[in-house]
Amino acid sequence: MRQAGRFLPEYRKIREKHSLIEICKDPELCAEVSTLPVDILGVDAAILFADIMLPLEGMGVKFDIADGVGPVIPSSLSDYERVDSLMTLEPASDVPFVMEAISATKKLLDSRVPLIGFCGAPFTLASYLIEGHATREFVKTKKLMYKNPETWRLLMDKLSTSMGIYLRAQVNAGVDAVQVFDSWVGCLSPEDYHRYVLPYSQRVFSYLKDRAIPRIHFGTGTATMLEEMRQAGGDVFSIDWRIPIDVAWQKLGYDVAIQGNLDPVVLLAESDLIRAKAADILTRVGNRSGHIFNLGHGVLPETSQENVRQLVEFVHEHTKSTRE
Ligand code: CP3
Repeated sequence: MRQAGRFLPEYRKIREKHSLIEICKDPELCAEVSTLPVDILGVDAAILFADIMLPLEGMGVKFDIADGVGPVIPSSLSDYERVDSLMTLEPASDVPFVMEAISATKKLLDSRVPLIGFCGAPFTLASYLIEGHATREFVKTKKLMYKNPETWRLLMDKLSTSMGIYLRAQVNAGVDAVQVFDSWVGCLSPEDYHRYVLPYSQRVFSYLKDRAIPRIHFGTGTATMLEEMRQAGGDVFSIDWRIPIDVAWQKLGYDVAIQGNLDPVVLLAESDLIRAKAADILTRVGNRSGHIFNLGHGVLPETSQENVRQLVEFVHEHTKSTRE
């Protein structure tokens, strides 16, 4: 997540000349940025350079991505009529640049590592649309959910349909795996997740039922709702550092894969501590297959590139030495 963004000087240099959206809409530039982390850090997969907000423009939402803030929506959604006016995404005409960027990135990667496509999950997208920007408490979002359930259902309905269509288009364009980012869903209780979110995330995944690619379901703060997330769908479940990975895996069941779960702040510490924390995760996983080593959330801007490189190397070496 945001592995290219924020902390790589090579990315920042490109950003001095181009806005984030400009990069996303220029397939060649986008391919270059998507492959930066593979070339520089040695990670095992590339994630398409895009943003979860990108497809919303095609649905009729105007937004901006503000430096250091994230998505900002000038006229946030809350009334039924406005939600009703949202259109269904048509990938070929609304986001042709994403499909072109996928082809260009695949070419540049030249089969070195797989390419992950992605979208925002309906809840996380809805929260930006309703709040208008990042928030801590999600008051407006929950208020709409509780007070205007019809409007909520309509919004979630529209988002899940469009995101399902969007992911299918990405798979057709050549991505090797997809990740659905429900970054902020951890603010809900398991009961509310079940009632207000699960059916819609389930619908996103249902669009990929007939596709033989891994589907990663990402969330943070989800330790209490892993069983529900599993019901919603996915082949791989991404967890953050708030729950030990072995405990999370037991809750999810060993017939699904797991991704996680180093706290990104650990990368600001000394090498010894970074290695110890990473080793703890790998020891908890043991010899079980189906683990993707990852951070619990995005890399922080102040992270040193050298620390990330060393972590990647450590995980590779540790995995090799325990599996031989
Ligand atoms: O890893 C990558 O760089 C791949 C591309 C990528 C971006 N956004 C580009 C980006 C990915 C996978 C995302 C996903 C995304 N965007 C999520 C889900 C994952 C997560 O981290 O929770 C969310 C919630 C967003 C919305 C968003 N966009 C936020 C919260 C921010 C951060 C604002 C900040 O800088 O603190 C953005 C901006 C953004 N999107 C950046 C990048 C590289 C930041 C750097 C920049 O503005 O150039």
